[in-house]
Amino acid sequence: MKRALLAVCCSGNGTNLQALLGASRRGTLQAKVAIVVSDDPRAYALKRALAAKIPAVVIAPKAYRSRQAFDRQLARVIDRYGARLVVLAGFMRLLSPWFVRRFRGRLLNIHPALLPSFSGAHAVRDALDHGVKVTGVTVHFVDEKMDHGPIILQAAVPIRETDTEKSLQSRLHKTEHQLYPKAIQMVLDGKVRVRGRIVQIRH
Ligand code: GRF
Repeated sequence: MKRALLAVCCSGNGTNLQALLGASRRGTLQAKVAIVVSDDPRAYALKRALAAKIPAVVIAPKAYRSRQAFDRQLARVIDRYGARLVVLAGFMRLLSPWFVRRFRGRLLNIHPALLPSFSGAHAVRDALDHGVKVTGVTVHFVDEKMDHGPIILQAAVPIRETDTEKSLQSRLHKTEHQLYPKAIQMVLDGKVRVRGRIVQIRH
C-alpha cells in the first residue's frame, strides 16, 4: 500500500521531525515525510531534512505582504507535495482562519502541556512557575484559536522538585516523540472521529 504523505512545518530544532523520520523509517508510522517547511532559514530542522534527503522549503514571512499571502504559499507547497496531513512541529506562526479551514481535520499540532493549561509559547516555564505537580503533552487538531482545537491524545509528565526548565523540557520531548507518531497513525488509520470539540477514538 502507498504510504500517506506528510508535510511537517518547523521553526526550530526539529526533534519532533526527527522522531517522525525515525518512526517512518522503522515502520511504526506508516507515512512518509514528503516535505519539510520552515519560516526560518536558520531552523536546525532544515539540516535534519537535508541529512534525511527529504525536500525542504523556506517560506520567509518578510517576502509576503500579509498573513494570508504567506499561508497561500504554504498551502501551495503542501499541495504540490501531495501531503495528506499537515503536521506542525514547533512551527512558531499563527495560521490564518483561511488556512485552518482549508486544512481542517488534516492539520495537527503538538503542545508541551496539558491543554487547556499553559497554552502559548512558554508552556514549560509557565507550568514550572505555577508549581503544578503534573504537566504533559497534547496532540490536537488546529482550529482558529491558538492551542485550542479538539484534543486527540494527551500524556502526563510528573514534575520533580529538582526540575529546571531544561530537565523538564527534555522529559516532555521524550514523551512528545512517542505521542506524535502514535496520534498521526491513528488519524491516518481513520480511527479518529471529531464531534465538535470531542475526539472519539476507535480502538
Ligand atoms: C515542542 O516542545 C512542541 O511541543 C512545541 O515546540 C517544540 C518543538 O520542538 N510546539 P522541536 O523543534 O520538535 O524539537
